Amino acid sequence: MKNYKINRKDFLKYSSAPFALAFLPATFISACENNSKPNKKADLDFSPDIEIELTAQPARVSILPGSKTNVWKFSGEVIKGSKDSLKNLDDNYLGPVFRVKTGDRLRVRFKNEVDEATIVHWHGLHIPANMDGHPKYVIEKGEEYVYEFEVMDRAGFYWFHPHPHENTGPQVYSGLTGLFIISDNEESKLNLPSGEDEIPIVIQDRTFDSDNQLVYMNSPMDRMTGFLGEHIVVNGKKNFSLDLDSKTYRLRLLNGSNSRVYKLAWSDGTPLTVIGTDGGLLGKLVQKDYLTFGPAERFDIIADFSKKTPGDIVKLISLPFPSPISGMGGMMGMGRMGMMHGRDSNLPEMGDELNILSINIRNSVANNFKLPSEISSFEKSDPNDAINYNNPRRFNLGMGGHMRWTINNKTFEMNNVAKWEKVKLNTTEVWEFVNGGGGRGMMGSMMEMPHPVHIHNTQFKIISRSYNGNSDNVWNTFKDGFIDDGWKDSFLLLPGTSVKVLLQFKDYTGMYLYHCHNLEHEDMGMMRNYLIEE
Ligand code: C2O
Ligand code: CU
Ligand code: CU
Repeated sequence: MKNYKINRKDFLKYSSAPFALAFLPATFISACENNSKPNKKADLDFSPDIEIELTAQPARVSILPGSKTNVWKFSGEVIKGSKDSLKNLDDNYLGPVFRVKTGDRLRVRFKNEVDEATIVHWHGLHIPANMDGHPKYVIEKGEEYVYEFEVMDRAGFYWFHPHPHENTGPQVYSGLTGLFIISDNEESKLNLPSGEDEIPIVIQDRTFDSDNQLVYMNSPMDRMTGFLGEHIVVNGKKNFSLDLDSKTYRLRLLNGSNSRVYKLAWSDGTPLTVIGTDGGLLGKLVQKDYLTFGPAERFDIIADFSKKTPGDIVKLISLPFPSPISGMGGMMGMGRMGMMHGRDSNLPEMGDELNILSINIRNSVANNFKLPSEISSFEKSDPNDAINYNNPRRFNLGMGGHMRWTINNKTFEMNNVAKWEKVKLNTTEVWEFVNGGGGRGMMGSMMEMPHPVHIHNTQFKIISRSYNGNSDNVWNTFKDGFIDDGWKDSFLLLPGTSVKVLLQFKDYTGMYLYHCHNLEHEDMGMMRNYLIEE
């Protein structure tokens, strides 16, 4: 098969033609119009503690040695409030790092200076529906969207990225990703490693052409399985390494990859010490031999190098695992090896062993950090609070007709919600997500793979994961790497499993998204609205 490229806005190249996809006809009950309007102007009654101007724009940055790479990136400027609220990263496509406190009132004036419609979504934050970056609010080049909200979430590692329908994958891939770090009083009391000892780590994968320019979509199958890049890029650089001393660090990990799943471990076999997940600190620390790390998830880890000596090298790696894609997807996997597109690619398969980053121990220093065993006050969830404990809302994720990934056999509808997607304000519910067994006929059984499920607007708790015995390989590969004790906004739904989550709908009414965070699946329509009604 021929490998050809087309230009996307002069720089982001696609190789191979995308799949031709047909849309499903569907009947929907349309939602009552909610009161959330696009916020194109600042509200003069809102007085922010921090005001930031955030711009998405083209840039040229170093990712590999040699030529710079054309990217799109967010950059920002503090107009009001502490200058420490925002840090731009020089010569990097990763966007600025926000640092705010619970209770801060924020105004962000977002300006679109790229050649496509876009909108910013604050991943993991509990904010009003018209501040959440729903794709219906996209703005064109030259336009501004004004975000105004109070930070209500706990201390934690959140992030932001574009959310236009059918275009989130390529825009995030082009570079548009930023970090949003919240602190609070409970966290400050722990005296966790901070300043230079607290290091955000964003793990992504990218493919480049011979001139160091980004290439998106390696094969027609990439839309079905999700894009996998040839190189691991950490904090915007290939072959990322850190020079650290023999003491304790706090690493905040984000899987910012479009679709790649990692099985994280330390190369020397030391267990990983985890103190937090998507929605902040755990009640108690958890130690794991490896972490199952799906797209959009975060882990807050403590890395103790006090036993290391100068010259030692420790690596964060992704352990090898068998392909989690079954049925036709497995065949597609072989396609990647060259059978189907005749390219001798160095593309790592999903499951190949990978070096994520290297840590070089520099100096031997005194280490006086001691982690308390109780980290945060964390209320245990009580599933009995749910109004539908014995009758969870069910969402089947799988391949629908016409080779499209679907939720309950439906794809995204910009302004509609189905009857089964309406919930009431001030209620708690159990939602059950099922992967496998829900697919229709032949297609359903032809392809199964993990889906990183994400629900907007709320941090939830995972109350159970069950496995139906159909994909032993995948289940056994990943099952010991889940951390289901903390607050989550994203979780990896393996084939043959069902996951029940407990969520609360409070403070805001309106339409929010839930979707697969495999960005190619999301763009294909594996996304739906749910509506919180009074
Ligand atoms: Cu990080 Cu709807 O996404
Ligand atoms: Cu989100
Ligand atoms: Cu998916």
